[in-house]
Amino acid sequence: MTTPAELALTCTDLTPGELAHLQRLLGSWSVLADLSFSDLLLVVPVTQIPGEDPALVVMGQIRPNNRPTLLEQDLVGQTVLQSSWALSTEALERGEIVRGAVHHPLVGESVPVENIPVRYGDKVIAVMVRVYSRQGHVPISMYEKNYLGVFGRLVAMITESEFPFRDEDVGTEETPRVGDGFVLVDDAGKVEFASPNAINAFHRMGIYSPPEGNTFAALGIEDTAVQWALATARPVVEEVERRPDVIVLVQCIPLLKEHRATGAVILLRDVTDVRRLDRLLLSKDAAIREVHHRVKNNLQTISSLLSLQARRLAPGDGQDALYEAERRVRSIALVHEILSRDPGDQVPFGEIVSSLVRMAEDSVVSSRPVQISAHGDVGEVPADIATPLAVVLAELLQNAVEHAKPTHVVLELSPRQVVVRDDGCGLAPGFDIGRTTSLGLSIVRDLVVTQLGGSITMGAACGGGTEVRIDLPVGRR
Ligand SMILES: Nc1ncnc2c1ncn2[C@@H]1O[C@H](COP(=O)(O)OP(=O)(O)O)[C@@H](O)[C@H]1O
Ligand SMILES: [Mg+2]
Repeated sequence: MTTPAELALTCTDLTPGELAHLQRLLGSWSVLADLSFSDLLLVVPVTQIPGEDPALVVMGQIRPNNRPTLLEQDLVGQTVLQSSWALSTEALERGEIVRGAVHHPLVGESVPVENIPVRYGDKVIAVMVRVYSRQGHVPISMYEKNYLGVFGRLVAMITESEFPFRDEDVGTEETPRVGDGFVLVDDAGKVEFASPNAINAFHRMGIYSPPEGNTFAALGIEDTAVQWALATARPVVEEVERRPDVIVLVQCIPLLKEHRATGAVILLRDVTDVRRLDRLLLSKDAAIREVHHRVKNNLQTISSLLSLQARRLAPGDGQDALYEAERRVRSIALVHEILSRDPGDQVPFGEIVSSLVRMAEDSVVSSRPVQISAHGDVGEVPADIATPLAVVLAELLQNAVEHAKPTHVVLELSPRQVVVRDDGCGLAPGFDIGRTTSLGLSIVRDLVVTQLGGSITMGAACGGGTEVRIDLPVGRR
């Protein structure tokens, strides 16, 4: 797919400001297609190459939501000779609307067209081509008359460089469309016309009096958006809440003449259901957060109970075992602590590493301090991987400070490998991680193989000490 920006760069002379103006037009022109019951094309002159015939490139195309399209083909990116699109070329050169009918191979039959010069500042930079069926030419119903009337006012603004609005944020797919509910107000904010769908929206808001001749305020609808749009001549999008359970998105497009608002189009969209879902999702997020928070608190309670009990025992195996259990529980609590702040599928493991390092440092009892440094990062880790990995690292760091009597412990982290190296006394001769039956390393081996799906080696580090290397599978979920 070619984007307008790519087209502009590769084959036109548009300046960044001009391109932004056209992008704003493309971002808001669904309103124009619906109000005019027409297919719209945006054509821009192609950079003139000496010796070649001047051409136009189609930079955008939109179909109406309320009529069958007349242009089945995707014309975006196509170039046409200016001589064969003479009406568009004339609009571009004269800076005036040029109407006519065309019979063009791209379009098929002969259809009426309106070529609207798009002005940016003083310069006509593009032409918006409106292609419509002959039946659509004569408005029959009130709503068609009103739609076409407003379209005419917006077209006048386009030719005067007043539409699209400068610096307007467009591109939120949330903004209402004409079919959602259309209201036309005069320069005082009094309703001149409301489409059947707008009337439905009013009913859902509990407003049953006929809107014509009344301001939104008189009808009982929050009308700061309307007044603001009229006063500032700038578009406004606002959400209006009526009664506890109806939320309507209100988009006000002021209609300008010589920079002053002569009225406004108000598009209404009932977003109650959308917002309700948003709120449900929000509360689900809060609930998950809360659960993690409680799990963390419970784990901390268990860890405190274990340490209370350990303190009552005389130094020895029993006490050591309780302290170890306490430490393991605490390393699991770390993961839930992070998840309670930011519940999600992924956990930033770096934060856990710093807490684990602090835990190991705090457990050093000898007078000789041990320096632990961590390098690299595992990155984001799925929540169910974070817990076993945290327990494994806590075990290995603990062993290093406890058994090796090192001065330095180094932790090297990468998404595929974790290394814990110390410069201590080294392993006993004949040590084999595959065969050890001691509890700590059995837990480590088991978690690495079954929960992390990885492998572990443990041996002498070059230069003395011990090195534990854990390889993690690449495509961890
Ligand atoms: N980094 C290390 N340096 C030296 N010896 C170690 C190291 N890590 C583990 N060991 C040895 O392996 C043994 C088993 O460790 P582990 O299974 O964690 O049990 P524990 O820590 O309870 O003794 C330790 O007792 C120790 O002798
Ligand atoms: Mg141990």
